[in-house]
Amino acid sequence: RRDASRFVPAGKELARLREASRSCRGCGLYEDATQTVFGAGPENARIVLLGEQPGDKEDRAGEPFVGPAGKLLDRALAEAGIDRSEVYVTNAVKHFKFTRAEGGKQRIHKKPSRTEVVACRPWLLAEFGALQPEVVVLLGATAAQAVMGTSFKVTESRGELLSAPEDLGGHPAHALATVHPSAVLRAPDRDSAYSALVDDLRAVPG
Ligand code: URA
Ligand code: SF4
Repeated sequence: RRDASRFVPAGKELARLREASRSCRGCGLYEDATQTVFGAGPENARIVLLGEQPGDKEDRAGEPFVGPAGKLLDRALAEAGIDRSEVYVTNAVKHFKFTRAEGGKQRIHKKPSRTEVVACRPWLLAEFGALQPEVVVLLGATAAQAVMGTSFKVTESRGELLSAPEDLGGHPAHALATVHPSAVLRAPDRDSAYSALVDDLRAVPG
């Protein structure tokens, strides 16, 4: 089966994982993207924030959550009393998937397929193995289903401290799902969507 596993080195050193991820060809997404966007943050982080995939800005910068969604997330974290510098931020899929508007230069985000999420999952499991975090915050359905399985519904469980699946070996022990910050940016009532995101983040155990 084609996935990232044969590119993931043995051992738990985050720096080695990050380096190896640069040459991953575990699915087709490396072909059109600029670079792998691996997770970022301190090695002793107790909290992992999990997004869907890098966006246009992240693809160019090589860093997760540096674009508009990242700015909103930074603000929401601060408001919820979570120190951004103490969390590790990553994505379920580590290459940017996009289409081009007809004739245009603009790259438009395209949702990753389940196959691509599954193909990239070995990197996420390796990050959990290296970090041994206590809780993963699942931002949106793609992230939530990458960790909790395909029948998981964010709308039914958002803001609740859940047990993470046992196959993660207790690291993280907990998961907490909420909406994706991009969904807040698109919401008709942005203020209430933003407040609900902050409320969910307040339930993350310190
Ligand atoms: N959206 C994501 O899910 N991840 C990023 O890194 C940026 C935007
Ligand atoms: Fe590898 Fe993930 Fe990139 Fe696919 S998206 S090539 S599995 S790093």
